Amino acid sequence: PTPPTHAAADAGDEKADSLPLETRWPPFPLRRLGGFWIPEPLLPAVAAIHAGGKFVPTANDMLLASFPKSGTSWLKALAFAVANRADHPPSAADHPLRRRSPHDLVNFFEMTTLTTMNSDDIAAVDDAPPPPRVLATHLPYSMLPESITGGDGGGGCRIIYVCRNPKDTVVSFWHFSKKMALTMGVDPSSFTFDQAFDLFCSGNCTAGPQWRHVIEYWEASHHRNPNVLFLRYEEMLRRPAMSVRRMAEFMGCPFTAAEEDAGVVDAVVELCSIGELRKMEVNKKGTDVLGVRNESYFRKGVAGDWVNHMSPEMAARLDRIVDDATRGSGLTL
Ligand code: A3P
Repeated sequence: PTPPTHAAADAGDEKADSLPLETRWPPFPLRRLGGFWIPEPLLPAVAAIHAGGKFVPTANDMLLASFPKSGTSWLKALAFAVANRADHPPSAADHPLRRRSPHDLVNFFEMTTLTTMNSDDIAAVDDAPPPPRVLATHLPYSMLPESITGGDGGGGCRIIYVCRNPKDTVVSFWHFSKKMALTMGVDPSSFTFDQAFDLFCSGNCTAGPQWRHVIEYWEASHHRNPNVLFLRYEEMLRRPAMSVRRMAEFMGCPFTAAEEDAGVVDAVVELCSIGELRKMEVNKKGTDVLGVRNESYFRKGVAGDWVNHMSPEMAARLDRIVDDATRGSGLTL
């Protein structure tokens, strides 16, 4: 992959106009940077992150990384519930997740960078949560700064990555894009599943190509960086309690025997289940920083919904693309 510093240098204002442009995705134009398609409005943040922006994650921070529509909201809810369970027991009636959306409790660090980078108002920068924090990102691994990856010298943040089956990801991407387009005043009916599928297959969607995004984190977790935990959405659905235990251990706060006996793991699983999150008033009615309704983040939450959207030929086409791209990496998607 293109070294991050090189990619980030191209994200600067003066270079952004010369980057390849994709305008067929309704909500935002995308620019190709370091082999990935990044929403144009985010490019200044990417450049600022690498220039040592005001808001820099520290080694104590926990980063939740994902390709969009792979279970980010779920991962945010789980990590928040696990990290804050001493102050906020998951069974508490006034748990923050009952009043605020997972995206409100765990910010995307590139968005925080964007909102604070041009601010001379120190209060705005201070508004970013104090360390240690749980933060999230959709940026590819190769675009993360060394303060997060630790570079070759170790250190950096602990990173939890969630990976999802690409066929379910494209289905989720299409549904969500239409909701997002609506927010941006664009007619969502003009964006058909066939169009979304073609864009996804050519890698031209936010943070795409999806398989390349996954491979980078997978390789980091297996070969380069012991600070990366690689989770799979489908496995989390099958064995949520085990996934929560793995997360807690990795985060440095394993469940104690007393907590196990008290059913704290199951309480976290229940609190963060899509059924519970969907019921919460804030997730039914609220909106996120982009104005997208929170309910858009909680659709079906199952594995295998792709069979209801694509023909066997389409499935075979995407499988082939992914198989070709992952061959030799040891990763099965
Ligand atoms: P579907 O559209 O397939 O239902 P992201 O959070 O990265 O935007 O991903 C959204 C996807 O995760 C959506 O998938 C959504 O329904 C699913 N999801 C959200 N919360 C979930 C939860 N608590 N458990 C399982 N899946 C969840």
